[in-house]
Amino acid sequence: MDAIKQAPRPTPRLVEVGPRDGLQSEKGVISLDAKVAFVDALSETGLKEIEAGAFVNPKSVPQMANSEQVFARIKRKPGVIYSALVPNETGLDLALACKADKISVFTAATESFNQKNIKASIKESIERFKPVVARSRAARLPVRGYISTAFWCPYEGLVKPEKVVEVVKMLSGIGVSEFSVGDTIGKASPDEVRKLLFVLLKAVPKDSVFLHFHNTFGRAVANSIVAWKTFGISGFDASTGGVGGCPYAPGASGNVATEALVSAFKAAGGDPGIDESKLKDAAALLFKHLGRAPGTRPPK
Ligand code: HMG
Ligand code: MG
Repeated sequence: MDAIKQAPRPTPRLVEVGPRDGLQSEKGVISLDAKVAFVDALSETGLKEIEAGAFVNPKSVPQMANSEQVFARIKRKPGVIYSALVPNETGLDLALACKADKISVFTAATESFNQKNIKASIKESIERFKPVVARSRAARLPVRGYISTAFWCPYEGLVKPEKVVEVVKMLSGIGVSEFSVGDTIGKASPDEVRKLLFVLLKAVPKDSVFLHFHNTFGRAVANSIVAWKTFGISGFDASTGGVGGCPYAPGASGNVATEALVSAFKAAGGDPGIDESKLKDAAALLFKHLGRAPGTRPPK
């Protein structure tokens, strides 16, 4: 068999999004103590970046309403970045007051989803982010930009890679230098991942790209390994316990589980440097607070 040309395989860099993406669409009440304990347990695993909350309209996403208290109470481990989702300047003010280490703005590759999620067109969202990014950079706060519905949209179907590249360029144009490309409804296939990366990596450096796979159809691990092996992508988002979803993406399930991704990367020859047994402890702690068995979905 001919040798298949593959990119050099970098050490995977995992961003833990469980405390934000994982918990934002849980139905029951999650106590502040539970959130703080979850973040603190994650801090002990070797993860280098944890998205600890979101400064969004509490009426839109009630589960994130106490993010200020979460940031105030967590024990920050030196060397770990604690980031927050920020949709506008109000959110940035809160993030700065809470001393978040990094913020993430978020838009989408499709208009319908963006309207539902942040009540703005794609262009309007970029305008909204301009002062957020400028002020963050002035405060030396790194900024990530999420692009949701980068593969499939719950309202518009299959999304063209060129559209994603266009939005990435818009974000880059206002000073964002890290992009988290989201399979919001967890429907992408490895071929679709290849198609997107093939064009996206002509526009931005591969180290600026993180992939954010939800796992609705069970393909998130395969998609991640393909991106890593074939394109040398090192950045991946994941959620301990595989919890999560987006309140504005009906039917979307959780992010790929951090523990599944760590195990898969190790098996494929790349060690992200995260302690699997401590991750399992963090997941067990979370599910105990959620009141259901590890790995299970909330009742409908
Ligand atoms: P809006 O209604 O146009 O905002 O919402 P507004 O400026 O008109 O303000 C309305 C109210 O919200 C006001 O309060 C504001 O003060 C308050 P009121 O006068 O009614 O009492 N408000 C805020 N409060 C706290 N923090 C803020 C904030 N901003 C306004 N930052 C807005 C626009 C964008 C704010 C709203 O739609 C929103 O917060 N959306 C967030 C939706 C969200 O968090 N979705 C889930 C995260 S995205 C996701 O999961 C996808 C991702 O994981 C990637 C993937 O999987 O694809 C990232
Ligand atoms: Mg998500």
